[in-house]
Amino acid sequence: MGAALHRHRSRQDYATPPEFIEAVEARFGALAWDLAASVENAKAPRHIDVATNSFSARWYSLGGLLWLNPPYNDITPWVRKCHSESLAGAKILALLPASVGSNWYAAYVDGCAARVLFLRPRISFDGQNPFPKDLMLVAYGTDAAPGVECWKWR
Ligand SMILES: C[S@@+](CC[C@H](N)C(=O)[O-])C[C@H]1O[C@@H](n2cnc3c(N)ncnc32)[C@H](O)[C@@H]1O
Repeated sequence: MGAALHRHRSRQDYATPPEFIEAVEARFGALAWDLAASVENAKAPRHIDVATNSFSARWYSLGGLLWLNPPYNDITPWVRKCHSESLAGAKILALLPASVGSNWYAAYVDGCAARVLFLRPRISFDGQNPFPKDLMLVAYGTDAAPGVECWKWR
C-alpha cells in the first residue's frame, strides 16, 4: 500500500479508556461480556474475539450486561445485530459515533427501544487528545427508559 493511502487508513482497534468504563459500570452495573475484543483489550471478564467472531454468537444467550465498542469502519452490521439481539432479550451497551444522519442510526437506533446517551466531554483514546468526533453510548434492552440525553460522564 502506498504511503499516502496508509496515512489515511483509520485505526479500528481503539481501546475504551478505563475511566469511561468505570463511569459506565457505576451507572449501569458490571459488564459481563465484551462482544468485540482481544485478550489484551477486553473490558469484561469474558469476551469474544475476531477468531471466534461475534456474528456467529447468540448474544442474548450469553447473559449479563454486554459491552460493545466495534470497529468503526463498518458499523451497520453491528448495530443491526444490537437491535435484533436486544429484541431477543440481550442487554447491550454500544459505544458508537454519534452519527445521527447515518442510515444505520435511522434504522437501528432512532425510534428503537434504546436509550441514547450523547457523551460529554469527548473521550480520549490515547490519554492525551480528545477523539475528534462525538460519540454516544446506546443502551439496548437495559432498564434505562428509551429516549435521548446528554451524559456528562465525567
Ligand atoms: C475498537 S476495538 C475495542 C476493544 C475493546 N473491546 C474496548 O472496548 O476497549 C474493536 C475490537 O473488536 C475486535 N473485532 C473485530 N471484529 C470482530 C468480530 N467479528 N468478532 C469479535 N471481535 C471483533 C477487534 O479485534 C478489536 O479488538
